Amino acid sequence: MYFSKIVSTGSYLPEKIISNDDLSKVVDTNDEWIVSRSGIGNRRFSHDENTSRLAANAARNILGKINKSPEEVDLIIVASVSADYITPSVACLVQAEIGAVNAVAFDVNAACTGFVFALSTADKFIKSGVYRNALVIGAEVLSKYLDFNDRSTCVLFGDGAAGVFIERSEEETGLIAEILGSDGAKGMSLTGGYSPVVNVFNDGEKNYDIYIKMDGKAIFDFATRKVPKCVKELMEKAGIDNGDIDYVLPHQANSRIVEIISRKLKIPMDKFYINMYNYGNTSSASIPIALNEMAEKGYLKEGTKLVICGFGAGLTWGAAYLKF
Ligand code: ACO
Repeated sequence: MYFSKIVSTGSYLPEKIISNDDLSKVVDTNDEWIVSRSGIGNRRFSHDENTSRLAANAARNILGKINKSPEEVDLIIVASVSADYITPSVACLVQAEIGAVNAVAFDVNAACTGFVFALSTADKFIKSGVYRNALVIGAEVLSKYLDFNDRSTCVLFGDGAAGVFIERSEEETGLIAEILGSDGAKGMSLTGGYSPVVNVFNDGEKNYDIYIKMDGKAIFDFATRKVPKCVKELMEKAGIDNGDIDYVLPHQANSRIVEIISRKLKIPMDKFYINMYNYGNTSSASIPIALNEMAEKGYLKEGTKLVICGFGAGLTWGAAYLKF
């Protein structure tokens, strides 16, 4: 049986840092409100690099760390809700930009759970023997979908890209188990990028609405109920309990959500890796940005056991148990 070993991590973040004070110059808000309600202090906003450029730079960083040439990549999966175009996919643009001429490339859209869904998908291609390796990236330029007249939402999000390179292995390593879920019936509580049916033969709706719209309370309740339940199911499936887990890496949306998850799981906060103060909520990119930071800080040693968990639009949720 094959496993998919995580052999490299990497990231790329736009240079421009926007602090809460910067935002308060253009939005009716303040640092105290944003930090106390969300745990977010800064975020990156892209100046002119679109999502595929961030993803391609993250790919170069990931491959560069292991001296892997782009021609050796079999599969590229990019998780994103903020693609440059409806088509081609971000993954195909990345393939072209880095010269991964032998790869199969496609995108996955599962919002803030996107990286967990994408990693799970790539893992199955490797476990089944179809491909030997995969680049799995989460990349977002969410700033282009923010309504700066909606202060309850625009202060929460940021831009960035990060990911992993996974490779076929016979050791029991990488993604050991996962639980994924969706509830489309509740999808309207978090939407973005609506395009209506308009053509020369109808006088259909004209209400293009590109902005992210969120019922913050509904998402808060969903995340704090669903994520602990999902992680408990994951631990049962993997045959592990709280004590076996070295770290939990949650989607970086809101520190208050993470505190409630920690309490409900009876896993202390010092086992949760949190970096939302620096980057805000980068949706599909949030888990891999934090994962790469953990790797660079030396948290992910051989044998380290990590649970990653995401939740977001769709609605979607997912948790995965990773062994290094
Ligand atoms: N600055 C100052 N005041 C604000 C701001 C702001 N940026 N935004 C809202 N307020 C005000 C509101 O107008 C309201 O004022 P009022 O009482 O006079 O009407 C007051 O603050 C309280 O607003 P609430 O919406 O009740 O604030 P709440 O404590 O619920 O926090 C928040 C809002 C942060 C959005 C919270 O509901 C939340 O975190 N929800 C989850 C969101 C989330 O995690 N989303 C991402 C997950 S999915 C994904 O990642 C795509």
